[in-house]
Amino acid sequence: MSLGATSRNRIAVMHGVNLDQLGRRPAAHYGALTLMQLEARVSDWGAELGLAVQFFQTNHEGAFVEELHRLEDTVDGLIVNPGAWTHYAWAIRDALEIAALPAVEVHLSDVDAREAWRRVSVIRDVCIATVAGKGPGGYRDALARLREELTA
Ligand code: DQA
Repeated sequence: MSLGATSRNRIAVMHGVNLDQLGRRPAAHYGALTLMQLEARVSDWGAELGLAVQFFQTNHEGAFVEELHRLEDTVDGLIVNPGAWTHYAWAIRDALEIAALPAVEVHLSDVDAREAWRRVSVIRDVCIATVAGKGPGGYRDALARLREELTA
């Protein structure tokens, strides 16, 4: 189905703590792209799918929460990779619930195949899907999933 001008097609991609350091982190888990390079790819994939994608990154949990508070009425769906906050930041889980937008959780690395503490996600129950271990391509899958959700 094609997305018209009035469609719900606005997606926020939110990166949390340490994701601004991509390019310096272990490439075996996170690949070699910088955050800027990753965002450029995600933006192109969004355009291919008729989605308008905006980006946000912070290393401050409160700023991440406040951005989630602001998003109502300005976007239609979310892709969230909160980094290590995924595993323990209940405040982010609650802010996602307040935002009440369809959200897909994305991780570059295969969190379920790493340390035990990374297998816990406190945000999973407020997300419509989780994509992990697919590298940058996981964001394309997440965009496609959101498109499906928003055109249903
Ligand atoms: C990550 C996985 C987390 O466990 C880690 O703390 C990150 C990145 C990922 O994209 O694979 O910072 O969310």
